[in-house]
Amino acid sequence: MVVPRPVRLESAGDPSVSPPFVLSPAARISVAGDGADAVARLLRAELATDCGQEPAIVHEPPAFGDIAIVIAPGEGPHEDGSDSAERYTLEVAAEGVRIGAVTPAGAFWGVQTLRQLIPVGCDDALAIDAVRVHDHPRYAYRGAMLDVARHFFTPAEVKRFIDAIAVLKLNHLHLHLTDDQGWRIHIESWPELTRVGGSTGSDGGRGGFYTQDEFRDLVAYAAERHITVVPELDMPGHTNAALASYPELDPEGVAPALYTGSDVGFSTLQTGDATTERFVRDIVREVAALTPGPYLHLGGDECLSTTDADFVAFVRDAARVVVESGKTPIGWHEVGKVGDLPTGTVGQYWDFTSPRGNAAELARAFVGVGGSLIMSPSDVAYLDIVYADGDPIGQDWADGPTTLRDAYVWDPARIVPGIGDAHILGVEAPLWTETVATIEEAEEMAFPRLAAVAEVGWSAAPADTDAVETVRDATEFAARVASLAEHWDAAGTRYRRVPDVAWPETVGT
Ligand code: ACM
Repeated sequence: MVVPRPVRLESAGDPSVSPPFVLSPAARISVAGDGADAVARLLRAELATDCGQEPAIVHEPPAFGDIAIVIAPGEGPHEDGSDSAERYTLEVAAEGVRIGAVTPAGAFWGVQTLRQLIPVGCDDALAIDAVRVHDHPRYAYRGAMLDVARHFFTPAEVKRFIDAIAVLKLNHLHLHLTDDQGWRIHIESWPELTRVGGSTGSDGGRGGFYTQDEFRDLVAYAAERHITVVPELDMPGHTNAALASYPELDPEGVAPALYTGSDVGFSTLQTGDATTERFVRDIVREVAALTPGPYLHLGGDECLSTTDADFVAFVRDAARVVVESGKTPIGWHEVGKVGDLPTGTVGQYWDFTSPRGNAAELARAFVGVGGSLIMSPSDVAYLDIVYADGDPIGQDWADGPTTLRDAYVWDPARIVPGIGDAHILGVEAPLWTETVATIEEAEEMAFPRLAAVAEVGWSAAPADTDAVETVRDATEFAARVASLAEHWDAAGTRYRRVPDVAWPETVGT
């Protein structure tokens, strides 16, 4: 019972012929290849959490009953022809467990599969049925977004979220760092952004921000788990916190009051202005320097107070500044309005699974500049939408409620006509936090729906994507989700006990 569903998982069948693996207290983790040590340390930490076992890590060939992690060029599945650097094999037999991969990331995803096969609370007679897994992701980009601007989440809370998304083989964490309600990343050259703009949150929620050292540490923590942090500096709209900090960025030259409500579209940077240009160069330069990953997200959504001409000129320049800082720009799909984006600019599509207005055309504009798309259709992939009518937390504008089934039964390649897998970088589930005040609430909005989006991003495309409704079996998926509950309980991850799932009775919130 694995989520996301592996490409191939073959049970060895009759246990009297292929007996299970038994994890004995004497088991060791045998490592070979660059990066295998670090993966083994994470496996050991996970076994300590799940089972209270801490196997020794050894640099020698595995003995009977050991777990081997091998990272080498010839590893990973071959039969299916995948060239994904994240591919892995996992073999479980009485002799031992063996994870093979070409990269540490692949080995780490193999560890996540193994972890899901291990019953939680394992005592010293823990047995795992013999099985062979051959696996690789459908998309290179599988993400979750946490809006730390509306409500601030501490570094420790974000790390907890990182741990929870790693289990699902998500490999990008998009941090929405700036918005009307808060500016959360310290900028040395513009210190008032955090001193003033970081002092509040939605609904009078706590303020807060990441120092540059804290942010570097978060990025490194994610990277150890093979997760790339994608920082977003949302502009030119969604900028009230910046305007409240520096009146010279405001079109009227007057700092507005700090804002803690939930309206959107009312703020804009002054465009076509030398001070604003310097501001954009400074914030992009500082954040790019903190971020080893390839992307910097410049926002560009809901700029309802910027004229179209000003928006186009501003975003074109900002995207060039991002490229000059060594990063690939990502923008919400409205950025498709800008005709001559830098080559390779990535669009993040957030309209519905049936595109409205000109959303499809804007999405296709990224392909026109040699870019690609991250699919985040808001009617199925937005984690802030209520699960059910009347929920106290969450919003319902995006065709809500969004059930677990809704989050599962869709296909990224069947949304924008003309945009198939060749142009889709991946999928992402954003969690906006206007109404979400604590990390426990954030987790309850994310889980289990994030497991559905993770599977949409990882698992093989349905053979007939035209018939996605019948090909994605939400009932079978719900049964696998139920098996995650004990792992979530062991890790202290909160989740919503949605009615579509037969949750184990002894666990849950
Ligand atoms: C968005 O939901 N404004 C991208």
